[in-house]
Amino acid sequence: MVDSKAKMKLGMFVRPCGHHIGSWRHPDAQADAGVNFPHFVQMAQTAERGLFDMLFSADSPTAFTAEPEALHRTHYVAWIEPFSLLVALAGFTKHIGLVCTASTSFEEPYALARRFASLDLISGGRGGWNIVTTGNPAAAANFGDEPHLPKAERYKKAREFADVVRGLWDSWDDDAFVRNRETGVFFDREKMHVLDHHGAYYNVQGPLNVARSPQGQPVIVQAGASDDGRELAAETAEVVFTAHEELDAAKAFYDDVKGRMAKYGRERDDLKIMPGLSVIVAPTRQEAQDKFQSLQDLIHPDIGVAVLSRKMGFDFSGFPVDGPVPPVPSSNVLSSRVDALVEAAQRDNLTIRQLYQKFCSTRGHFSLIGTPADIADQMTEWFEKGAADGFNFIAPYLPGGLDNFVDLVVPELQRRGVYRTHYEGTTLRDNLGLKVPVSRYAKEART
Ligand SMILES: Cc1cc2nc3c(=O)[nH]c(=O)nc-3n(C[C@H](O)[C@H](O)[C@H](O)COP(=O)(O)O)c2cc1C
Repeated sequence: MVDSKAKMKLGMFVRPCGHHIGSWRHPDAQADAGVNFPHFVQMAQTAERGLFDMLFSADSPTAFTAEPEALHRTHYVAWIEPFSLLVALAGFTKHIGLVCTASTSFEEPYALARRFASLDLISGGRGGWNIVTTGNPAAAANFGDEPHLPKAERYKKAREFADVVRGLWDSWDDDAFVRNRETGVFFDREKMHVLDHHGAYYNVQGPLNVARSPQGQPVIVQAGASDDGRELAAETAEVVFTAHEELDAAKAFYDDVKGRMAKYGRERDDLKIMPGLSVIVAPTRQEAQDKFQSLQDLIHPDIGVAVLSRKMGFDFSGFPVDGPVPPVPSSNVLSSRVDALVEAAQRDNLTIRQLYQKFCSTRGHFSLIGTPADIADQMTEWFEKGAADGFNFIAPYLPGGLDNFVDLVVPELQRRGVYRTHYEGTTLRDNLGLKVPVSRYAKEART
């Protein structure tokens, strides 16, 4: 394992035009990004120039990813399927990791294990799988007539699914393929392992018909935040993607998840916690604020009002957007975050437009607006206070938002000594400072 412990890790959250709802309308964004492969190549190469650990693609197998009444105003409704995208990007990059989301509710473990092992082989050891159970019930309607399973059951199924996938990835020892032309032996039969899994949800014989990949296994990423989600992360994840707006909450999450790992025989460093981070950077604070406001002004009222109404459980559509926020019955308020926003609206006399702009800008992620030094200071504080091992960078708009981050913030982080100046190794595991997992069969042989 290459030692890269002391440095902050960076992921690049892949979204066609950017993370901000209004991004696709921004002059520095690529409005047709979702069908524009060269745009993604440029994005991947810029992230690699910024020495990012990985590209990270979220995914959900449905077009209904936003409020139905405003779906026609969102850019991520339709874009290139992310797994295919990442495989293609492997050919245009050398160092950056390629992490894709895939659902344990709508995939089959054998097929998924095969695809991700292949991604790892194609990319020379840069693959990763973000395990999700898919919370969006709209996806279920694309896979037959069965209703979406309740969350607790989805997590049960996810555990078995992940265990089968990892078992399949151990089908072959590292040195199984001798390919001896003289003896005519292609592989050593002792070094092939048949999983023979029979469980509550899956029966899978194995072995996988893909050889063990350079990382041993692709990196396992997870993004659940509930008790079940945290437990699954502590047991199986090597990277956790999370959303926090405040350092204290991020630190509490960090300590909680890392504190659960020992009972699974894992060390705290075996898992990297990376909150999402949205950045708007400019040479002066005023310029950065102006940039942010110009982006906020691109949120169409249809979508702003729809998002606000859903979050608050109250229909704002009949009220003038530039009028005051009407009183919301307290029984409709669903969470402490919503509660805080209602309070802010009353205290600061916000209009409906101002309130939805607050809501929609980063959707719960850590957000920084300022000069390169401001941004680097705050990132360093989270990192050094043990609230994060790094960040998943969510560019408000693309490609401009990523270009600015790489050109302005990365050198500041490097000057502070908290970020790498070159890639430490050749695989995603090397760069993240993660161990190569020992095959379950080698472990069995040892015990
Ligand atoms: C930062 C973050 C990113 C996520 N990305 C995805 C995704 O790409 N696809 C998906 O189906 N779910 C995604 N999720 C949802 C989680 O996988 C999980 O289903 C959801 O958070 C509900 O589980 P929980 O209650 O354990 O948090 C994400 C969640 C978080 C916090």
